[in-house]
Amino acid sequence: MTEKQDTITLLAIESSCDDTAAAVIRNCKILANIVSSQEIHKEYGGVIPELAGRAHQQHILPVVKKALKEAGIEAKDLDGIAYTQGPGLMGSLLVGGHFTKGMCMALNIPSIGVNHLQAHVAAHYLNESMPNFPFLCLLVSGGHTQIIKVKAPLDMEIIGSTIDDAAGEAFDKTAKMLGLPYPGGPLIDQYAELGNPLAYQFPIARIEGYGYSFSGLKTSLLYFLQKGVKEDPDFIAKNLNDICASMRYTIVKTLLDKFEKAVKEADVKEIGIAGGVSANKLLRKEFEKLAAKNGWKAFIPKFEYCTDNAAMIAVVGHYKFLAGESTPLSALPFAR
Ligand SMILES: Nc1ncnc2c1ncn2[C@@H]1O[C@H](COP(=O)(O)OP(=O)(O)OP(=O)(O)O)[C@@H](O)[C@H]1O
Ligand SMILES: [Mg+2]
Repeated sequence: MTEKQDTITLLAIESSCDDTAAAVIRNCKILANIVSSQEIHKEYGGVIPELAGRAHQQHILPVVKKALKEAGIEAKDLDGIAYTQGPGLMGSLLVGGHFTKGMCMALNIPSIGVNHLQAHVAAHYLNESMPNFPFLCLLVSGGHTQIIKVKAPLDMEIIGSTIDDAAGEAFDKTAKMLGLPYPGGPLIDQYAELGNPLAYQFPIARIEGYGYSFSGLKTSLLYFLQKGVKEDPDFIAKNLNDICASMRYTIVKTLLDKFEKAVKEADVKEIGIAGGVSANKLLRKEFEKLAAKNGWKAFIPKFEYCTDNAAMIAVVGHYKFLAGESTPLSALPFAR
């Protein structure tokens, strides 16, 4: 090993959706983790891809400069730059990818393309106490719901996926139907704390294997609300807490019933959750309870590493750099 490789210092950039983020990692320790969230989408009730790409262009340089400054690292000290290659919005990914390429060319260092979903799971490696391999991870984010068997830091097998909406989408669309602003997941969680989870019964989709489905639940809520509002125009306002609690209960139960089956069949003893929905209070509580009931060990990453961030991209970059993996500058700046 050369003197330089004894210390591995990487910059990481995340721009897959509506957060522009940069982190600096040295020997697998995060030195800085900066996230700039785009507020512009709030007024539209969802992310507008064109606006997201433009906002990334405005934010990326200040965010990277801030991360380097906070870490006390100069660009010339970097050994490589990890960036989100996909999945994500093409216009958003292009900004992070091209920025990385330009910087890597100027500094003559490698670029390391990272899969965003692998990074959500790898957020576990940033915790002081991390799961032993193999473990099963429930990835619940805005765009994905997957059960993943994690065999080694970079060796992950998807054993189940949603066939339609993601869990985060189910929360966000519930919020939209209730007239709440985007992103609605955290608000549903807040109102649900004050309501009765058994006030209303919503259906749990029975999908074969380890698959999930949330589109039927969405339709069921729509018909339920239409009927309620027809009978009483103030139905939503009067019953908001109970509706949120019942929907949250149904989504969490759907997620954990299937996950429990998968863990038992995989015969692993350590489990994790990842992605933005893992911030959900009921999911966290029930996840811990599930582990305690079965004698499993439960792991939940720190909150700031659950939603989109560049620290999780950095840690995958670190393991890839160690394995000698890099992405040619001639590669497309995004991948699906
Ligand atoms: N407390 C909460 N309860 C329920 N959902 C939540 C909570 N906090 C955040 N969410 C949801 O998490 C999602 C955002 O998570 P994340 O940032 O991981 O997703 P994403 O990056 O947009 O999607 P992906 O990673 O699949 O591309 C949103 O759908 C949001 O509503
Ligand atoms: Mg994400």
